[in-house]
Amino acid sequence: MTKHDLNLGRTEFGDPANTGNTMSREEALALLDDWVKNDRLQLHMKQVGHLMQSWAREKAGLNEQEQHKWFLAGLLHDADWDQWPEEHCARIINELENRKIDPSIIRAIASHGPKYFGVEPVSDMDKMLYAFDELSGLTHAYSLMRPEGYNGMEVKGVKKRLKDKAFAAQVSREDIKDAYERANVPLEELIQFIIQHQPQAAQ
Ligand SMILES: [Fe+2]
Ligand SMILES: [Fe+2]
Repeated sequence: MTKHDLNLGRTEFGDPANTGNTMSREEALALLDDWVKNDRLQLHMKQVGHLMQSWAREKAGLNEQEQHKWFLAGLLHDADWDQWPEEHCARIINELENRKIDPSIIRAIASHGPKYFGVEPVSDMDKMLYAFDELSGLTHAYSLMRPEGYNGMEVKGVKKRLKDKAFAAQVSREDIKDAYERANVPLEELIQFIIQHQPQAAQ
């Protein structure tokens, strides 16, 4: 749920020689703590990280190493937004390239706003990060206005908020539609998955 306006000016990220290199969950959380002082933004990234990992496991049927890559892409996708919004997401990309991280993770981060960053989502990881990003934010905003939070939340309630342009007005409905169409996942399935999994994201 961040503004994206920097065209990255390139479409190749990371070094194929680093394929398989990741960082531990602890290292990634330390980077997040170091860079992101805004708790709400940290929570957004933890939620998207959790959704990505859960999708990789439950829907894509990927092994643990792949699940961890999906988690890292989600967890770190907005890491530079808090302190360097005008450099978003070039700064986190550079950091991960310097740390010799797997290029698929870096590429997913680089393609989470195709219209803005100029990078098309290609892999399933790319597409699902783009698909979860804004919809996760809108669903969370909805949970905050419900006295029962996520309890008893229904898909149709989220869809209603999606149609109400005044609700969470900064969330681009156009990007949400573009994203789930590219991912080729029905909107209802995506919302249901978010309602089910988002409350379990680490706070
Ligand atoms: Fe985001
Ligand atoms: Fe972003």
